[in-house]
Amino acid sequence: MERITVVGAGHVGATAAQRIAERELAREVVVVDILEGVPQGKALDQWESAPVEGFDTRVTGAQGYAETAGSGIYVVTAGLARKPGMSRDDLLRKNTEIISGISKEIARHSPDSIIIMVTNPLDVMSYVAMKTTGFDRQRVVGMAGILDTARFRSFIALELDVSVQDIQALVLGGHGDSMVPIVSTVTVGGIPLTEMLSEERIEALVERTRKGGGEIVKLLGTGSAYYAPSSAAVQMVEAIVRDKKRILPCAAWLEGEFGLEGLFLGVPCKLGQPGLEAVLEVPLTDAEQQALAASAEAVRGTMSLLSL
Ligand code: 2OP
Repeated sequence: MERITVVGAGHVGATAAQRIAERELAREVVVVDILEGVPQGKALDQWESAPVEGFDTRVTGAQGYAETAGSGIYVVTAGLARKPGMSRDDLLRKNTEIISGISKEIARHSPDSIIIMVTNPLDVMSYVAMKTTGFDRQRVVGMAGILDTARFRSFIALELDVSVQDIQALVLGGHGDSMVPIVSTVTVGGIPLTEMLSEERIEALVERTRKGGGEIVKLLGTGSAYYAPSSAAVQMVEAIVRDKKRILPCAAWLEGEFGLEGLFLGVPCKLGQPGLEAVLEVPLTDAEQQALAASAEAVRGTMSLLSL
């Protein structure tokens, strides 16, 4: 791919840019941010690591979008974090403004691009991007399922003292407290997790996964997670750039899958060169289907606060 743009030079954006460059997923990575000098400074610093790390992907910074023209993918991480005294609605309003502004620029400068949405609340921000750009669902996908699944896998690996590589898991639903870890699908080297851990221990790991973002926020004191979120976003970039046809949990616009439509929600997605190639359905237990419907309601509740 010729060019990939990362919007937002904060921790998530900058770390994503670095991972993209180190894996040489494009000839150039452009980091865009409204803060003067910051994207240029971080990009230059990253580029100066290229001789040591051995990558040839150019990393550049910009304030505007002209420099991003022709990008194949935009990883959108820009947005505000909640400040003291700010309600969730205030945050939603601000980030909606930011994401619709960015989306207009993307549609203008790179009308054929694919958007990977990372900004929270990401299920709803994905919708804002899709609506503002007019792109079809193939080209707007939200990050989160990979992150939530990675957290779940990492906790299972610690609990069982086994390799993370051997743990397969699936977390569906919105990226929030209502997310739905599908315990029936979790396997460790092909063995069902339910054969290896008690229901009680599994439930504790599920709870920790649900609150995984909050656990990091609490530890950091200011700010939120960025190493795992950027890894997750870049796995999506790689699946698209290398046309890998990977099956990964991502936020996709639903058109009847799982009995739901008209919202973005975390579901198993096939990602390849065109972006979202398909949404895959998994059989769910009644309880899981109910939990997914409740998660959808939570996302719809936030959507209903939007004025676009
Ligand atoms: C997380 O889960 C804040 O959404 C981010 O870490």
